Formats: sequence, C-alpha cells, structure tokens
Amino acid sequence: MSGSRGIDGLSDTDKTRLIADLKARAKAKSARAAEVEPAAVAQPKAFDFTQLSAHKQLRMMRALGEMAGIVDPFFKLHDGIPGGTILTGNVSHINFGTYNYVGLNGDKRVMAAAKAAIDRYGTSVSASRVVAGERAFHRELETALARFTGTEAALAFVSGHATNVSAIGCLMGPRDLILADSLAHNSIIEGARLSGATRVAFPHNDLDSLEDMLARARDRHERVLIAVEGLYSMDGDCPDLARLIEIKTRYGAWLMVDEAHASGVLGATGRGIAEEQGIDPAAIEIWMGTLSKSFASAGGYIAGTQALIDILKAGAPGFVFSVGLSPAQGAAALKALEIIEAEPQRVARLRANGRTFLAAAKAEGLDTGTAIGASVVPVIIGDSSFAVSLSNRLDARGISVLPIIFPAVPEKQARLRFFITSEHTESQLATAAKVTAEELAQLKLGV
Ligand SMILES: Cc1ncc(COP(=O)(O)O)c(C=O)c1O
Repeated sequence: MSGSRGIDGLSDTDKTRLIADLKARAKAKSARAAEVEPAAVAQPKAFDFTQLSAHKQLRMMRALGEMAGIVDPFFKLHDGIPGGTILTGNVSHINFGTYNYVGLNGDKRVMAAAKAAIDRYGTSVSASRVVAGERAFHRELETALARFTGTEAALAFVSGHATNVSAIGCLMGPRDLILADSLAHNSIIEGARLSGATRVAFPHNDLDSLEDMLARARDRHERVLIAVEGLYSMDGDCPDLARLIEIKTRYGAWLMVDEAHASGVLGATGRGIAEEQGIDPAAIEIWMGTLSKSFASAGGYIAGTQALIDILKAGAPGFVFSVGLSPAQGAAALKALEIIEAEPQRVARLRANGRTFLAAAKAEGLDTGTAIGASVVPVIIGDSSFAVSLSNRLDARGISVLPIIFPAVPEKQARLRFFITSEHTESQLATAAKVTAEELAQLKLGV
C-alpha cells in the first residue's frame, strides 16, 4: 500500500513533485513570517505622562523656581525621631515641621508596644476586619478612643484622610447639603465630593454666613452636615462650638468636628475642643480624629453613638474594603492614648509652649493671624515665593519650618506653619521667633 511504502515507494516524478511542493510551502511560510515580523517586534508603549498638562505645569514651576534661584523646600530628606529637633542631612535643626504634639513619637513605651504587637500579630492583619482581619488591639483601641472622646463608640480606619472621605461619603448623598468651613481639610472636601451632596463653603469661622446659608437652603435638602475643625490646621484657631450646636439644632443639621490638630492638645487633659470649651461631646453627631499627630501613629477614627459606628462599620468603603489597622499602628496609638490620659502634664507643656511661641512671634512683629497659640501657629507672609525663600533661609540657619503656599491657602495668604510640641525648649521657641523676624526683614530688603 502506498501509505506504508513511504517516500521510497513513490515514482521519481512523484518524488520530484512532492519535494517541489514542500519547498514551495516552506517558502510561502517564511514569506508570511517576514510579513508579520515587523509588527511582532514592535513593543507596545505605555502612555507618556509628560504630555499631560499637569506634568507640563510641574516642569514650568520647576523651571521658574530654578530661574529665580529658589531651592525647592519640599521632600527634603530627614532622619531620626522628630521632636524639638530633627536631623536634616545629618545636621540637627530646631524642628517645627512635624506634628509630634505631645512628644510620644519616639517614647520608649510606645515603641515597645508597637514591637510587642508585631511579635504577636505580625506586621499586618492581612485582611479587612469584616472578614479575617479583626484583632483584639482594634477593639481595645476603639474602646479607649470612645472613653477619651466621651462618646459611646469609635471606629478606627487605616488613614486619617480616608476616614473623612469614607465616613462623609457613606453618610451623605445627592439629596443632602454639606456646609464646610472654607479652611476645612482636603479630606473633608473629598468626602463631600464622593457623597454627591451639594457642597458649599462658608467663610472661615463666620457663623453668621453659615446661618444665612442654612436659612436660604435648608428646606431644599434632606440631611445637612456642617463640617468644622476643632483646631484649624492652617490658621491654628478654633470655632465657637456652643454657637455651632445652637445653629445646627435650630436647623436640624448634623455637626462634624475634625479633631486632627485638637486631640491631645485642647482642654486640660487633651480631650479636644469639647473639653476646652466646656461642651458635652454627646451634643455633636460626628467626632473625627487622626492617629498620626498626638497619638504618634497613623490612621484615623470616627467617634459618636453606637448606631453611627454600626452604620460606618457596615457601609464605609474605606473601612469595609480596606485592610484593618496594622498591629504596630494600632498598638502605638493605644499606648500613646493611655500615656496622654496618665500624663496630662504633656498637654500642659505643649499649651505653655504654644503660648510662649505666639507671644514671642507677636513681640517680633510677625503676623500670626487668628492663631490661639496651641499646636499650630502660622506666620503669614503673603507671597508664595517669599514664604518659600524664608523657609529656605531659616533652614540654612538651623530651623526647619515648612511653607504653605497657594493653592493650599488663598493667594497672598502664604505662610510658614510652625507646629509646636511639648518637647520644644523656651530658648528654641524664642530663637525661632527672633531668627524668623530677622530673616523676613532681610528678605523684604532684598538682602
Ligand atoms: C484637619 C485634618 N484632617 C484630616 C487629616 C488627615 O490625617 P492623616 O494625615 O492622619 O491622614 C489631616 C492631615 O493632616 C488634617 O489636618
């Protein structure tokens, strides 16, 4: 049979035909491969982000800074534990750039608690708390936060920023209205945006304007949230909580107070603006705070009634769909909170330092705006490039303080923001005020 005879069973003519056929097929195949080769070799290229106007703008800003001889003061490399001093490029500077308000970042007890938590739980809880990420330290921290804030319950999130975004985004909706102070933190604004509610900013601490807005718009909305800060992060001043409570009660609105810069700072024992102003915390619907400042960790919390916490626990996306707070962060915050409760003298020291610096800055003729002299004291400079240059000059004289420029604050409101800590000495505070005034005067003279 021809099938079993193989090629040797074919006639010479058939063999020639077969070989010619095979050659033709091979040739056609290699021609086809040659045709597709260029396309196969060309690698797909990712989008070039330098084409975006955002990147063009950055390049332009850098070029302008270089032309003007202004050194970029941001993203400087620091080392060591930030307290009254910090290492910048191995040189010790008096430090006003970080918010270690009551000196607990670097406290041996806080660090030991974080290390012990890592030994017990590892470096991550490796899951959302809803599923397999719930640990005892989460519950202990939340119990302590509720106790500290004078509320029924609290819920810890992995980031302070995400706390505001998630909580506001979860509680408010398109039929609602959010009235936020014009200096409210970006996380409040982003949360409002996420919620789809109508958003209006009222002028900073101007409660008459807030009332006007409520009188005009309250009826057109289902729920209304008024969002303020216990101590404002840019101006270092406080709202009038009693009046806010009176207004929100009259208009059937909710009040949310962000205590990022007030926890561990305001009130005789650091419990925040309610303690400072003699208000019952139960009169406020939503308390918010971060774990990154006085609590020497990272993360955030909401505190209020058990029902509020139940709702957020079930529906706040940044809680439900995010990993639980890590062991080191949770344990550090819990230990820091316990130390603040046991050592109110830290709060007293911070407040004394805030007053000392405010008085020294005013005596030097510096513009500190409406600051009350607590954890944040701005020195308002006006022009953004002036503020950057002043920050660089102070850095060269051994003082680390960062400029806040447009768009973080309105144009012509650029400033240096001094974060005060319980760890500053009187002499550091006096030196900083004096050197700032000296350098500002030189800058104005163009020297
Ligand atoms: C008022 C206010 N709320 C929320 C946050 C966000 O907190 P965190 O930095 O811990 O994410 C900040 C940050 O500094 C803040 O100033």
